[in-house]
Amino acid sequence: MTATPLDPATVARLVDDAVTAPSMHNAQPWKFVFRAGSGTLDLYGDPDRAMTRTDPNHRALQLGCAAALFNLRVSAARNGLPVRVRLLPDDGEPWLLATVTVDGTAGEDHQLAALHGAVRRRRTSRYPFGDEPVPTALLDGLVAAARLEGCRLTVPDPWHLDTVLGLVRDAEHREEIDPLVRAETADWVSPVRGATGGRRDGIPAAAFGSKSSAGPTPVRDFGRAGPVPDRGWAVFEERPQLALLSTSGDTRVDWLHAGQAMERVLLQATADGLATSMTSQPLEWPELRWTVRDPVAAMGHVQMVLRLGYGPVGPATPRRPVTEVLEIRE
Ligand SMILES: Cc1cc2nc3c(=O)[nH]c(=O)nc-3n(C[C@H](O)[C@H](O)[C@H](O)COP(=O)(O)O)c2cc1C
Repeated sequence: MTATPLDPATVARLVDDAVTAPSMHNAQPWKFVFRAGSGTLDLYGDPDRAMTRTDPNHRALQLGCAAALFNLRVSAARNGLPVRVRLLPDDGEPWLLATVTVDGTAGEDHQLAALHGAVRRRRTSRYPFGDEPVPTALLDGLVAAARLEGCRLTVPDPWHLDTVLGLVRDAEHREEIDPLVRAETADWVSPVRGATGGRRDGIPAAAFGSKSSAGPTPVRDFGRAGPVPDRGWAVFEERPQLALLSTSGDTRVDWLHAGQAMERVLLQATADGLATSMTSQPLEWPELRWTVRDPVAAMGHVQMVLRLGYGPVGPATPRRPVTEVLEIRE
């Protein structure tokens, strides 16, 4: 199969889809460079958007970039462009996370293209979900989605769910008493409802969701950093449907696979009519992260805790314009 090489207008379209990806605190820590001469699109992590206290080794940063890479693959498939991706192609350039080229021998991927409709519908929902269980068939589909990206998605047993919920609570307490963590989070939230101060990043008050009136939930409360008066209280689900995304290793390549798997699971869940949110709180403390894994299952390293269910969709959060994150070079 012959394939048309990438051109700047097509690249802008792909990047516009890529940047709808989730990222920690909506920091959008990515940069794209298109080299017109070689037709290569490079994805870089942006160290200026790193969180030194909560994400010192940039694991979460790279998860977000890899989610953007997954969206880019979906967008390319949708545009009939078979692409080849090389992860961490240059040891001498650690912030170069991936290189994408059009390659006719890569073949079309209809499964990827089918996820395109979910790219702009996926949102983080910090609202309570209903008690209706997520059907096993859907959970199986999400497990398969993670597997396609070389990762594992596990639904915790009831006892393990209690452990994970306890660890989220523990992480919340640690955040509360750590002024550096609180300050870092506060840097990324816009607490005034309806006003983001012109910011194209961070978490606006409209995305804080409801406050829990009946104790802790596995939903991060961004309103702690800057309370919003008219936010409203709600009862969250007592037994949330969580799923743990894990990898066998914990190297940078594993993180890049995990980020792509995370987005694949989120897009599949969105396509299936599920609402989703994530929490990385217990994963931000090394001593807690290890205990999030199920000691009975050979789970490896947990990379993300997902919450799934039926409930209100979250609001759209801002994104930096493509012109700010994409550089076109000769
Ligand atoms: C690595 C990573 C960690 C995240 N951790 C949390 C979290 O602990 N709590 C939360 O509510 N959202 C978390 N999120 C979701 C982001 O806050 C969210 O993607 C971002 O604000 C953009 O909003 P959107 O997902 O609705 O597009 C995380 C996302 C990523 C990629």
